[in-house]
Parts: sequence; C-alpha cells; structure tokens
Amino acid sequence: MNKLTIRDIDVKDKRVLVRVDFNVPMNEGTGEITDDSRIRASLPTIQYLIKNQAKVILCSHMGRPKGAPEDKYRLAPVAKRLAELLDKPVATTRDCVGPEAEQAAKSLKSGDVLLLENLRFHVEEEKNGPEFARGLANLAEIYVDDAFGTAHRAHASIVGVAQYLPAVAGFLLEKELVNLGGILTNPVHPFAALLGGAKVSDKVALMENVIGKVDYMFIGGGMAATFLKSEGYEVGQSLIEADRIETAGDLLRKARENNVNLILPVDVVITDEASDKGSYQVVNVKDIPNDKKIVDIGPETVEIFTGELKKCKTVFWNGPMGIYEIKQFAKGTVAMAQLLITLQASTVIGGGSTADMVYDMGLADKMTFVSTGGGASMSFLSGEKLPGVEALNDKK
Ligand code: 3PG
Repeated sequence: MNKLTIRDIDVKDKRVLVRVDFNVPMNEGTGEITDDSRIRASLPTIQYLIKNQAKVILCSHMGRPKGAPEDKYRLAPVAKRLAELLDKPVATTRDCVGPEAEQAAKSLKSGDVLLLENLRFHVEEEKNGPEFARGLANLAEIYVDDAFGTAHRAHASIVGVAQYLPAVAGFLLEKELVNLGGILTNPVHPFAALLGGAKVSDKVALMENVIGKVDYMFIGGGMAATFLKSEGYEVGQSLIEADRIETAGDLLRKARENNVNLILPVDVVITDEASDKGSYQVVNVKDIPNDKKIVDIGPETVEIFTGELKKCKTVFWNGPMGIYEIKQFAKGTVAMAQLLITLQASTVIGGGSTADMVYDMGLADKMTFVSTGGGASMSFLSGEKLPGVEALNDKK
C-alpha cells in the first residue's frame, strides 16, 4: 500500500482524530448492539494509539439520519460496548463539533479515549461541507482513517478533514486494502469468484473487473435466474431483471472469451411461496415450471460447485446462493460456507450481507478474511478508486 499508516507517524501526546465505521446493527426494541464485529475490527488501531500515548478522538456515523439528531442513532451504546472491550472509560459528547466537543478534546490526557456523537446528525457530513470538515479538524492534530466500510463515501469526515491534517491509514483500512487488493493483483491460482445475491445489476461492475483475473466463476442466488434466462432457459416466476438479460448474456460471453470456467446451476430449488411454509422441490434447470420460482441452488449444483472449488487456491465469495433467511432455502449457502472453511485456499468474503451470514453461521474466524465493508468492498473490487483512500497522504 502506498499510503502512510499510523506506524509512520509520531502520535505521542497528540490529539488523533480517528474515523471509524461503528455503523453496527442494533435491536430497535432493546437498543442493544446485535453484532459488534465492526467495533472489534478497529480495536487494533485504537489499542495501538492508546499504547503509544495518543489522545484518541473517535468519530463515526450510525445509520442514515437525515442530517439532524435522532435518539435511535445516538452512539452511546457503542461507547458502552467499546469501553467494555477496551476495559477503560470512553468519554462521549452530545455533538461531534462545536464548543463541547472542542473542550472534551482539549481535556483529554494521553491514552484517553473520546467518542464523538454521530457525524450524520449534521447535514454537512454527507455533503462534505468545508466548514464542518474544518470543525472536525480543529479537534485534532493528526487524522487517521480506519473506516474501510465508508471509504467509498466522499464525506467530510473522510475526505474533507484529510485536507487540514496529516492523514494516515489505520490498521483495519490497511488490512482491508492488502487482503482485497491482494486477490485483485496477486491471487494464487486457480482463483474463483463465487457470486450470488438477488441482482445482476449489483454485480456487473465487479464481474467485469474480475473476468480477466479469475479462472472460475460460479453463479448462484436470485441473479442466477437472469443468467439462466439469457442462456435460453425458462425460469417461471423467478424474479429476473428483464433489462439486464442482455448484460448477463454479455458477461457470460466475455467470461467464456477469457477462458473463465463459468459454472451456472444445473438444478435449482423451486417453490410457489417463498416462505417457511411453502412446499418446494428440486428440478433440473431445463424443467422449471411456469408457476414456480427459483429460491436456491440444487444438490447437484452444490456437488458440482464443491468439486470445482476444491481445485481452487483463492476463493472470493459474495452473495447468498438462495434465500438465506428461510431455512429450507439456505441449504446451498450453508453448504458453500461449510465447504469454504475446509479448502486449502485463501477464502475472502465480501462484506455486507455475506459477512453477516458467515458471522451468523459462526464461521467467520475460519475464513482467511471477512471484509467489514459492504458497498466499499464492492466498489473496491469493481476497480473504483475509494475517496477515503485517495484522501490519505502518500508514502514518500
Ligand atoms: C455500511 O454499513 O456499509 C457503511 O457503514 C456505510 O454506510 P452507508 O451505506 O449508510 O454510507
């Protein structure tokens, strides 16, 4: 990585503003954090700064408030959880800029930790307003970006603030770029992309970017219906993107031209009711009845995917193979996750819902790397430049 990191600067006794992505899922009823993995993911950076006697000022967004305070998006529960994980107090403020925040930042002692209130309570955050960025910069002497999950957003706390302070990467941002960047630039072959999820449109840019790099491409999930349709199969009531059938066909053609071993489902689970009460059956993709829809890949497909994936040395996975939330339609997804942990391969999981599923199955720590970024990891793997990375200081 050609960006400076916290290892490259002296943080001792300095006020260090750290952009983290503490946008964690909460139970709306109890206000409890249901998955703290994003908080844990930034602990190495925070602990390093504490150990090196920095005055740590953390800032994050939570949810999508409309530029004004909303109690359900306050960061108090995050501060509480972080204090437990660090085993030390974490101070908070009622606002992320202004006199109270400035006073709180000034009174920090070396090794102290402060978490500012939700950045998105200010409309200028998402607009990258210069005054707001300046207000954040005023709190500190150094800026650290550890928020890979928001690196695809050109917001004030990500891009604007970096113009006013020395700006370096934290360990999580670095780790994400090294792991995700590694599969793009230097994968051990054979390299496979295992792709699922609902929509072709969400995956076009990613597929185009990896077609010239992968040896295998496996397609499952809801989007398989659009690909099957483009190959001339009838897919019954399956949700297809009619305006993407041609795109799907083009992607398949490009993959074949690039000698990618392209593997589509040969059998699928179908139902007329996508609920846990619906009856279902397995059919060959040639025999999908008019009144049914695809809800998972079938057992023969699982077997074929398994046989081929066992030959791979690098596997990138993004997107469920079926409707993961409904147990009888989660079998393909579960089979893939359980297979991946047994492979003698580097297994990299794209973030967002795929990461959530892997955590839900208790398999995250058995994968080589699980990204903390949903949209950010897709943007990065689609070959886009991330504003949050571009804003940081280059290594000399
Ligand atoms: C995420 O959850 O993907 C990040 O925190 C970014 O959130 P956003 O999509 O609301 O910008």
